[in-house]
Amino acid sequence: MKEQQDFRMLDSTYYMPAFSREMMLVRGQGSTVWDADGKEYIDCVAGIAVCSTGHCHPDVVTAICDQAHRLIHCSNLYYIPHQGELAKKLVEITGMHKAFFSNSGAEATDGALKLARVRTGRKKFVAFKHGFHGRTVGSLAVTHKPAIREPFEPLGIPCTFVDYGDLSGLKKVVDRDTAGVIVEPIQGEAGVIIPPDGFLEGIREVCDKSGVLMIVDEVQTGMGRTGKWLAIQHTKAVPDIVTLAKGIASGFPMGALLAREGLEFNKGEHGSTFAGGPVACAAALATITVIEKILPDIARKGERFRKGLSQHNPRVRGLMIGITVGENCPQVQKKCAEEGVLVNCAADGNLRLVPPLVITDDEIDRVIRVINGALGP
Ligand SMILES: Cc1ncc(COP(=O)(O)O)c(C=O)c1O
Repeated sequence: MKEQQDFRMLDSTYYMPAFSREMMLVRGQGSTVWDADGKEYIDCVAGIAVCSTGHCHPDVVTAICDQAHRLIHCSNLYYIPHQGELAKKLVEITGMHKAFFSNSGAEATDGALKLARVRTGRKKFVAFKHGFHGRTVGSLAVTHKPAIREPFEPLGIPCTFVDYGDLSGLKKVVDRDTAGVIVEPIQGEAGVIIPPDGFLEGIREVCDKSGVLMIVDEVQTGMGRTGKWLAIQHTKAVPDIVTLAKGIASGFPMGALLAREGLEFNKGEHGSTFAGGPVACAAALATITVIEKILPDIARKGERFRKGLSQHNPRVRGLMIGITVGENCPQVQKKCAEEGVLVNCAADGNLRLVPPLVITDDEIDRVIRVINGALGP
C-alpha cells in the first residue's frame, strides 16, 4: 500500500515531531504484532501496558462492533448503555464506592485532583520523585520529571515532590493545606520501581493524621497487571481515590476514577463529552470478563519471567517487569526487535516488559531467550 511505504515522509512532513519512532505496526493478534514489512514480533510493550487482553481479542472486538452497530455516541445528557453496569463492576473489583469515567489516564488524574480539591477545600498536593501521572496541565503538575514539566510552568497546582519510599520526608511536607498525596504503587515510567515494604501503608497513616486524601494511580499497574485487580491490593492500604486507564478497555481509549464512600462529584462539578461512551464501556466490560478468567494465572507467568531472567535481577510483579540495563538500553531494545521481541526502555536505562496478560508460556520462553541473548551473560 502506497500510504504505508510513505509513512515516514508523511509523518515528518505533516505530524508534529513529539515522538521518536521507527516502525509502523499494522496488525495484531494475541501477543503477536506485525510491522508494515510483514515482520512478526512478540509484543512485550502492548501499547505500554494497554493491550491487556492481547491484540484484537475476539470477545472485545465483538463487543465493540455490536455496540458500534447500535449506538456509537449519545452524550452524558442521557443514560448510557453499559455505563452503570461497568461502574458496578469496577466498584466491585476495586472495593471503592463510586466511579467516574474519562478518556485517558491523564484525565483520570485531573479528575482525582479536582475531586480532592473540591471535597477537602484544600489546594496543595504531594507527589513522588520519578512519578508519572500524565501530560495535561493538571496531571503534569504532579508529574515529577523536570524536563517534561518545567517548560510548561506555572501549572497552577502547587505540588511538592518527595523521594519515593521516604515516609519521614513525606511527613515533613504534608500539612493541613494538603488536599492529596498521589502515588503509583509501582512506578511504571520510572522503570518498574517497587517501593519498600510498608511504604504504601505508611502513606495511608500520614494521610489519616492530616485529613489528606490518598490517591493511588493504578493507570499502569491496574486491571490485573500485577496479579490482582489493583497493585495496592497486595498491601493493607485502602486508598480514598483510585485512577485507572491503559488496560481497562484493551486499547479502546478510556480512563476511570473510583472513590470511597462520601467522595463524589456533585451535579455540574465535572464532565466530559466522550467519557464513558457506549463503545468504550462495552469494550471495558468485555475486557474485564476476559481478565477475570486469566487473573489467577498472572502471578505464575510473572514467576516464569523471574526465573528465566534471574541472572539480570529483574523486578517482577506479575506481568510488570523491569531490568536495570543502563546506557545500553536502546541497543538492547533494538537487538530484541531484530530477534522478534518488542520491549521498551523506560527512564534511567530500565528495560520494561508489560506484555499482554494472555501471553502464553511458549511466548514467555521465547522472550526470555531473546532478552538473555541481547543482554549477554
Ligand atoms: C501511572 C500513570 N499515570 C498516568 C498516565 C497517563 O495516562 P495517559 O497517557 O493515558 O494520559 C500514565 C501513562 O503512562 C501512567 O503510567
